[in-house]
Amino acid sequence: MSKVNSPHTAKARVVIVGPGAMGCLLAALLSRAAALEVALLDYRPDRAKLLNEQGIIIESPAGADTVPVRCTAEPKQLETADLVIIFTKAYDTAAAAQHCASIVGSNTSVLTLQNGLGNYQVLQEYLPAEQILAGTTSSGATLLGVGRIRQAGIGRIILGSPTSNHALADSAVGLLRSAGLQTELTVDINAVLWRKVLINCAINPLTALTRRRNGELWESAPLRGLAAQVADEVYRVGQAVGINWGKFDPRREVEEVCRATATNQSSMLQDVLAGRRTEVEYITGSVAQAAEQHGLSAPLCQCLTALIEGLTEQHIQ
Ligand code: PAF
Repeated sequence: MSKVNSPHTAKARVVIVGPGAMGCLLAALLSRAAALEVALLDYRPDRAKLLNEQGIIIESPAGADTVPVRCTAEPKQLETADLVIIFTKAYDTAAAAQHCASIVGSNTSVLTLQNGLGNYQVLQEYLPAEQILAGTTSSGATLLGVGRIRQAGIGRIILGSPTSNHALADSAVGLLRSAGLQTELTVDINAVLWRKVLINCAINPLTALTRRRNGELWESAPLRGLAAQVADEVYRVGQAVGINWGKFDPRREVEEVCRATATNQSSMLQDVLAGRRTEVEYITGSVAQAAEQHGLSAPLCQCLTALIEGLTEQHIQ
């Protein structure tokens, strides 16, 4: 059987694991870069076949653009990658690590850009810890169907190495920049992940419970007040954990993200509307757990976790 990507190419090989909204968006953006050879790795053969035939369709007010993409559910069809980007749901991280293990060589970087806390630690259990990178993206996308997305704005990627392998992180930054993606290196990845989880804690459960878009959340005075209190709570837990928040202003940051992604449905609202399991356990759930480990309580995070779990428990296996 022929390999999905060619062994004789000088192009850098990037494999994105997980064809959800963000995985498809990134695969489409990277596929446009001539210097990269991009493939999507799925676990469902039927979906991989469809994506391979159809490509990724990006809808925008200007029309629909189709970007051809190589996709397979069989990792043996792929060569060793230079960069593997994990974009599955947080609850699938362990399965994703095992699925992509055969394409991770001694020079491969494995970057998680997933939502939530705990993802890089799970990857470190299955793959060489010093090759794992973590990061956040402020881009947004809505999944409209298999491989069909609506782009909600291209933001910035910030990434770093949890094991202080800054040279590896720096070369991943260079690779993503070479594809035209605004990417920055951080030497304090835990602070960056907590900033993102604070925003997800304040926006995602409340938008999912009230079925509002991100902008509508901030327009509602009572919901804005509650989102601000959730942000303050996560900030306090982060302080106890030892996160260096620097000049980060929790309320202002949440407001800015709500405004910048005003028309976006949060990923948790999308999950609830599609009847999918949510990532709440890795968002407010992980903050409540961190609080407990440090002798604190995080009642708002606990309450939001329970409400979302109660709303969606019929979907949890
Ligand atoms: O999960 C999401 O939807 C996004 O991370 C964010 C930043 C809340 C924007 O919708």
